[in-house]
Amino acid sequence: MASEGKNLIGVDIGSSSIKVCEIKESGGKRKLMRFGLHPLPAETVVDGHIINSGAVVEGLEKLFHKQKRRTVALRASGHSVIIKKISMPLMTASELDEQITWEAEQHIPFDLAEVHIDHQVLRRREDEGQMDVLLVAAKKEEITDLTNLAIEARLKPVVVDLDAFTVQNVFEQAYGLPQPNETVVLIHVGASLATVNILAEGTTSFTRDIANGGNTITEEIQRQLSISREEAEAYKHGGDGRGIVPREVPEIINQVVEQLAGEIQRSLDFYLATSGDSDLSRVYVSGGTANVRSLLDAIQERARVPVEMLDCFRVASPDAKLDPMTVQGRAAEAAVAMGLALRKERERRSA
Ligand SMILES: Nc1ncnc2c1ncn2[C@@H]1O[C@H](COP(=O)(O)OP(=O)(O)OP(=O)(O)O)[C@@H](O)[C@H]1O
Ligand SMILES: [Mg+2]
Repeated sequence: MASEGKNLIGVDIGSSSIKVCEIKESGGKRKLMRFGLHPLPAETVVDGHIINSGAVVEGLEKLFHKQKRRTVALRASGHSVIIKKISMPLMTASELDEQITWEAEQHIPFDLAEVHIDHQVLRRREDEGQMDVLLVAAKKEEITDLTNLAIEARLKPVVVDLDAFTVQNVFEQAYGLPQPNETVVLIHVGASLATVNILAEGTTSFTRDIANGGNTITEEIQRQLSISREEAEAYKHGGDGRGIVPREVPEIINQVVEQLAGEIQRSLDFYLATSGDSDLSRVYVSGGTANVRSLLDAIQERARVPVEMLDCFRVASPDAKLDPMTVQGRAAEAAVAMGLALRKERERRSA
């Protein structure tokens, strides 16, 4: 995608917090000029739906207090979007534009009047007369609700993107495009949702959402120790500095981590069994739950390939004026907002 103009401000409204990143590009160099994180109260977002819109608007207003630039890229929850990779006969771009609605009808289980459809050619397989196309369908109502919230907070949303694609953008800019023979797995684990995106032969080859994340760890600590959510969250982070973490906590974390790593591995096994690809090269994990070291170890043990945390600040290092404390330890949580902040005011599609 060719792009021009200034970078948009990335606004990632997650179920546990809102993250904001602003990148400035000049002379081919990028700097992270601003990073903000505003925690949201529990139950603000339930099953991907923003229930407490007042809390979100208030958070956005705080994060954008006295900010002149208000043109933003937003993240849509995976709950309101379906991504499918489909195979179609080779055709030109204009033929595809005409065909795509018909194809979408076969593959998308929503009423087409209620969704925005987008598509991108991933690969042309000339010898087989086929091409792989990525089909994305987003529920109009959910996207409108999301953009209206931003407008209520006096923001100007111009782009809406998804976790899987924003993290892919960060990965490609930070670590470079994978070699044609490499298969790279990007796993984003937030509070309520995990997304797996497998890149093979240079493009997305498989994506899957798993309805599990850091909340499950917190809830399990809360349940097994009969304590409040706040206490459980503090114990998960290694204690709140006031007392000793009960010795059961690491064991509870590991129970949930095993379950989560097992679900992720089932997606990887499915990909390996159905794609014809014989092995994976490396795995990068992002999202706040990537801070749980035992999760990375559990994935590595199962996948038997190197697993590391995605360092999103490699795409734009924090500016010297930015307080280092605001970004310290946030390299995993900021990934989506960072990917959104890479988007530009004007973009042209090259394919
Ligand atoms: N140091 C840490 N140790 C353990 N867990 C952490 C740490 N830092 C963040 N988390 C967890 O990461 C999760 C938040 O991650 P993130 O900000 O990526 O989620 P989100 O975007 O709000 O949620 P989602 O996208 O799933 O709706 C929370 O469950 C939080 O407890
Ligand atoms: Mg998130």
